[in-house]
Amino acid sequence: MFVLVNLKAYPCDGPAVARAVREVSEESGVRMAVAPQAAQLETIHDTGAETWAQHVSPVEQGSHTGSTLAEAVADAGAVGTLINHSERRLRLADIDGALSAADRADLETVVCANNPAQVGAAAALAPDAVAVEPPELIGGDVSVSTADPGVVKDAVDAATAVDEDVSVFCGAGVSTGSDVAAAGELGAEGVLLASGVAKADDPEAVLWDLVSEI
Ligand code: G3P
Repeated sequence: MFVLVNLKAYPCDGPAVARAVREVSEESGVRMAVAPQAAQLETIHDTGAETWAQHVSPVEQGSHTGSTLAEAVADAGAVGTLINHSERRLRLADIDGALSAADRADLETVVCANNPAQVGAAAALAPDAVAVEPPELIGGDVSVSTADPGVVKDAVDAATAVDEDVSVFCGAGVSTGSDVAAAGELGAEGVLLASGVAKADDPEAVLWDLVSEI
């Protein structure tokens, strides 16, 4: 199980969260990573935590002002990137372009999707993983694996039907070890989460709970 903490643009202490992620990951043996703002990638990488980008642009090096170049993300220490998060939606052609950019920079990829149908479509582009995240559950108190377990199972089936090498993750409302365990029982190989850690009074305590049933 892979636990990926997306800091989004939350006003949290990113380096402190990252140090806690590194410690919990090292001591529990569970793969965990942090996805900060692009401007914080190097700072987060310097903590020793596995570092991911929240987005890379579907561009090559050149005149692309304001873009997030995959090679620059990798140079800052990121080893992977989210693509098409519901808060950073891309057109299908741009998802494909962002995947090509990530591949050029040797970044692992997780493409986000709203539902099983989109999971199947995204899997056809051969990312490393697709994460099903119903937007209506993002930021809420009930995890997707509890609120709508069928969407996780259907996402696993949809991806497997297209490319069994594509892993399926899930996210939205995940904040406890039981949420993570439930996701695993439904076939997910990873979880994406944000507010459960970024808005917590004690992020490290949440991180230990997240791995408590793995
Ligand atoms: O990328 C994961 C994120 O969208 C989930 O948000 O706050 O429901 O954990 P949250």
